[in-house]
Order: sequence, then structure tokens, then C-alpha cells
Amino acid sequence: MARLVIVSNRVPSPREVTQAAGGLTVGLADAIRGQPSLWFGWSGGTDGVDGTDPAPGITVQDNVTYATIPLSERQLKGFYQGFSNGILWPVCHYRVGLMNYSRDELETYLEVNRLYARALAPLLQPDDTIWVQDYQLFPLGEALRAEGVNARIGFFLHIPFPPEQLFRAMPGADLLLRDLAAYDLIGVQTEQDAGNLRGALRAVGVERPVGAFPIGIDPESFARQAARGENTREMGRFLDALGGRSLILGVDRLDYSKGIPERFRGFDRLLKRFPEHRNKVSFLQIAPVSRGDVAEYQALRRELDELAGRINGEWAEIDWLPLRYITRPISRKVLASVHRHAQIGLVTPLRDGMNLVAKEYVAAQNPADPGVLILSRFAGAAPELGDALLVNPLDPDEIAEALDQALRMGRDERVTRWTGMNTAIHAATAASWAADFLRALGETPDPRGAVA
Ligand code: ADP
Ligand code: F6P
Repeated sequence: MARLVIVSNRVPSPREVTQAAGGLTVGLADAIRGQPSLWFGWSGGTDGVDGTDPAPGITVQDNVTYATIPLSERQLKGFYQGFSNGILWPVCHYRVGLMNYSRDELETYLEVNRLYARALAPLLQPDDTIWVQDYQLFPLGEALRAEGVNARIGFFLHIPFPPEQLFRAMPGADLLLRDLAAYDLIGVQTEQDAGNLRGALRAVGVERPVGAFPIGIDPESFARQAARGENTREMGRFLDALGGRSLILGVDRLDYSKGIPERFRGFDRLLKRFPEHRNKVSFLQIAPVSRGDVAEYQALRRELDELAGRINGEWAEIDWLPLRYITRPISRKVLASVHRHAQIGLVTPLRDGMNLVAKEYVAAQNPADPGVLILSRFAGAAPELGDALLVNPLDPDEIAEALDQALRMGRDERVTRWTGMNTAIHAATAASWAADFLRALGETPDPRGAVA
């Protein structure tokens, strides 16, 4: 049987794959189940030595080989904190003004992609199909071709792709676009991303198939987790603290693309404009710290600390804390149950590739008495989840009005809206995402075909 080779910057541990926790892992874990696979990427370590190619660390479990290499401190800084998350990430999220460009970081990004290619190439077998994941690895396909790899190579971009003019404002953009020519198929999340990427490729004279493959979750397993976590002691304590108030829930990595300050301001507007909800609602924002070494992420954390303090200072009463803001990660089981107990899922990214949290919120609901999803029009999930209350996340008043509408919404309307969304999350799951992409990749002309 032909082998599937997955390459992603972060490689899950065998335990994470078995438990199939996060969205990307669920989709890929399903794809590799029952077929021999190799998963390659960064070890998470910084014990690499500049100028030396590290030997991959190899672990085998079931039918999957995990191969990882460390980076040096300098490589991690330039490749991950620098070009990937300080330059490409803001540009792909339409925030060119937040980009801190440095030629050195672009060069380190290309260097690390070549390093990955040199470490991976010797591990490959003739019949392998290779699937490269996400923006950290745009040039990997081209670097593998330079190592003589002639297998089919697919690429999937999990984050948005902005309009051509915006992407090409980034120095180095044309080089990355030309490198995409090495892939046999390029997948993105939405039709809008696909149109933008096709435009950018056309502008640099590259013709490659680009398709929209929206990623999903495993809705059954998330729903089971949500129901199971209900009887835990932690949930009991949480419900006591809520004291029967309506719960508004936000769950995101602490990232400026998620629109968390704007959301806090929307909640503040709700309390100001609709006094009837004071002391009747509680907003819980769970936002584990992410990429804490990047300056913009540090600035966001300071902004949120201040905003949360100000909002609670203004509205809290002796028996009521309006906003609970948690930056520590919490267990998935408890997280799923908290979703189930939330009357409102508040998901308002300024721009997002997909946003799996929105789909998880839907999956976790009690079908007989579901909550309401308030969703940004700029999340990749919006085209599929049109039954949510869609908002422009930049307008705190629009968020406040949607919150008020959701808090007053009757059960019939909630059930109708939820049924539409639940159908959508079952129609495109994590497993069908991976299967659809790999099928389409398998149907592209075989790069080795010329020989046959
Ligand atoms: P992104 O990939 O940008 O982080 P997504 O919403 O697509 O955004 O995916 C985030 C994933 O991480 C979801 O599966 C979500 O459940 C999980 N997650 C987010 N916050 C937490 C948290 N505090 N604890 C555990 N898992 C979390
Ligand atoms: O989906 C976007 C993404 O950047 C993934 O590639 C990544 O694994 C995840 O978010 C978390 O980010 P990081 O790996 O930088 O912690």
C-alpha cells in the first residue's frame, strides 16, 4: 500500500494522534489510520546546531513513523517567530501594517525549509504521496524537488489567503508564489481564498490547480465529550459560580486575528446599552497564551489585561463578576462541557482561515435546547454556518445588538438555526476534508507519468 507522508511544522505526539484531539490532528489522524504513514516536522527542541544537519529522531507507533528534527535558537527565531509569525501571519490575515519585515528572517525561513527537505528526502520511498501543511512551509515542495523528489506533493494552507495586491506587498511574496509551482495541488479553506490565490499565482505566471477544501471537526466525538464532561467536579464548581446566569463564551488562542479586544468592547456596549442584562449574564473568555515571544502578541496581552480590568471595574457588583478572563489552557473534556452550557458562543475573529471553535460550539449543544452562535462574517466558517448570527467584528455595537438578540431568542428559533448548522458540520468533517483533498491530489497528473 502506498504511504502517506504528512509534513507540518508541529508534529503531534503519538498519544495526541490516538486521542485525535485538535481539528488538524483529527483530520490527518483519520487519513493515516489503516495506512502506513510518515509524519515529519520540528521536534519542538532548539538543540540544533547552525551549519550542521541534525539526524531525525524517529518513533514508530502502530503504522505511523514520526520523524522530527530540532532547530537552532537562531533558526527558530528567524523562521518561526520571525518570518512565519511576524511577517506571513499578519499579511495573510490582511494586516500588512503589523508586518515587521526583515530580509534576514526571510532568508532563515528559506534556509529552514531547505533543511527540512534535506532531512526528509532520504526517508522517502518511491510510491509515497506527500502532503505539506500550512504557511510555515510554502517553499518546502520546491526544496524537495531540488532534492530530486518526484512524488506527488500536495499543499494545504490552513490560514486565509488575502487578495493579490495585499499579499504581494510583502517582500519575498513573488518568490513564495513561484515556489508553489512545485505542488501538484494546492488546497485552501474557502472559495474566497481560492480566488485570491489564483489571482496571485496568475500575476506571477504560475498555473497550478487550486481548490477549496473547508476543514471540519469530528462532531460526534466532540458531542460525546461535551456530554461526558458534564458530571465532573470542575463543571459542578463552575455552574455554582455562574449562579444561574446566562453564559457567553469565547475560546481562542491569544491572537490579534481573533478580535478579542473588539469582543470585550462589544460586551461592554451590551452592558451599557441594554441594562436589563446586567447581573444576568457572565462572559467567560478562555484565551491560552500563544506565540508569547512575538512583540504584537505581548502587546495584545497587555491590552486585554487592561480592558478586562476596566470592564470589571466599571460593571462588577459585590455578587457579580461580569467578565472572567482565563489565559491558562483547560482540558478538552471540560472545555467541551463549558461549550454545552453556554447560551451564546461568541466567535468574532477579524479574519480566520476556518475557525474550528465555531464548529465545536455547534457540536457541543444540547439538541433540545441549543445555544446561539454569534459568528464573524470574516471567519472561514461563515459560508457554511449561515444560520449563526453573523456580525462585523469591528463594530462593538453590532456585537452588542447580536448579544441582546441571542439572549432574547426563543427556543424554536434556536432549534431551527442550530439544526441548519449541525447539518453543515456533519456534511464536511475532519475526515471528509482529508479524504477529499487526498482524492483530488490522487487525480492530478502523476509527476512521474512522463517516464511511463
Ligand atoms: P487556530 O487554529 O487559529 O488556533 P481554530 O479555532 O481553528 O483556531 O482551532 C483551535 C483549536 O484549539 C480548537 O480545536 C480548540 O478547541 C482548541 N483550543 C482553543 N483554545 C483552547 C483551550 N483553552 N484549551 C484547549 N483547547 C483549546
Ligand atoms: O492553523 C494555524 C496554526 O498556525 C497551525 O499551523 C499551528 O499548528 C496552530 O495554528 C498553532 O500555532 P503555533 O504552532 O504557532 O503554536
